[in-house]
Amino acid sequence: HTNPLFSLDNAFSIKEVNDWIIKIEKNLNKGKNKINNNDFLVAELKIDGNALALKYEHGVLTNAATRGNGEEGEEITNNVKMINSVPLKLRINNPPELLEIRGEAFISKNSFNLINKYRESKNEQLFANPRNACAGSLRQLDPNIVRNRNLDFFAYQVHFPKTSKINNFYNSQWKRLEFLKVCGFKINLNSRLISNISELEEYYNFWEKERTKINFETDGIVLKINDMDKQKILGHTQKAPRWAIALKFPAEEVSTRIKDLSFQVGRSGAITPVANFEEVQLAGTKVSRATLHNIERFEYLDIHVLDTIV
Ligand code: IVH
Repeated sequence: HTNPLFSLDNAFSIKEVNDWIIKIEKNLNKGKNKINNNDFLVAELKIDGNALALKYEHGVLTNAATRGNGEEGEEITNNVKMINSVPLKLRINNPPELLEIRGEAFISKNSFNLINKYRESKNEQLFANPRNACAGSLRQLDPNIVRNRNLDFFAYQVHFPKTSKINNFYNSQWKRLEFLKVCGFKINLNSRLISNISELEEYYNFWEKERTKINFETDGIVLKINDMDKQKILGHTQKAPRWAIALKFPAEEVSTRIKDLSFQVGRSGAITPVANFEEVQLAGTKVSRATLHNIERFEYLDIHVLDTIV
């Protein structure tokens, strides 16, 4: 990657985010209070998929890669070309010589359910979740498989050539999201500008409840300093930018009852114990069975019909 792909530091409460903001304010203006700056932050949903790095030369998609270790990923251009929401050509006049776009490839909950239903009918091993299904698809040697899996993509970041004047024009994350939209990318329309902690709290609480109703998996919100100059001053650590943080949602849990335990025979002859339980709604999908992986785990769990499980 010309520019490395960073990961994000995690926070697990509004208080931790508050502490992060206070630290940033200190860094930016040596203690002068700035938190009520209008549109200080951009809040976005954290999409639970696989990060992609796309290169557009003179507006044409020439390279797509996985995140890999952040410095070096796997080149998967032909597969990414099969994702409908990744434009092969940008819809703008006079595109810069080079644009690097980052975003998240994912599989919708609906598509994921269809894929697993199909795999079940073929007695193939099921994907554990949409994120695994997406990662597995991106690694396929045959791009047609990617097309059939109906992958999707949300763009969330753009790097312009460092010396280009365009940097001064698109000087905020919000403007950059709008630029991505104009280029023909899908951006997450649930993003919002945030001016203070109570707006942030409202956004987080809303999506913590609402996330089960949308057609893709999200595991938290991402908060980004809107102003690009401020982002530059803050910089990044080895691992993550200082100008962004992820606030994770608590994992969803439901309880249900075991109806039946069965053994599934895979294509290779491997036998996998499976728990079948009363159907529950979880992470936006209906779930009624779970793999117990192997006989050792099955024994360790000491699981019985009519047991209550979480
Ligand atoms: S920003 C340098 N925005 O989360 C900034 N990342 O846990 C890093 N992710 O590797 C990326 N939704 O794959 C950003 N709206 C979003 C995101 C997002 C999902 C992923 C991304 C990143 C991972 C870090």
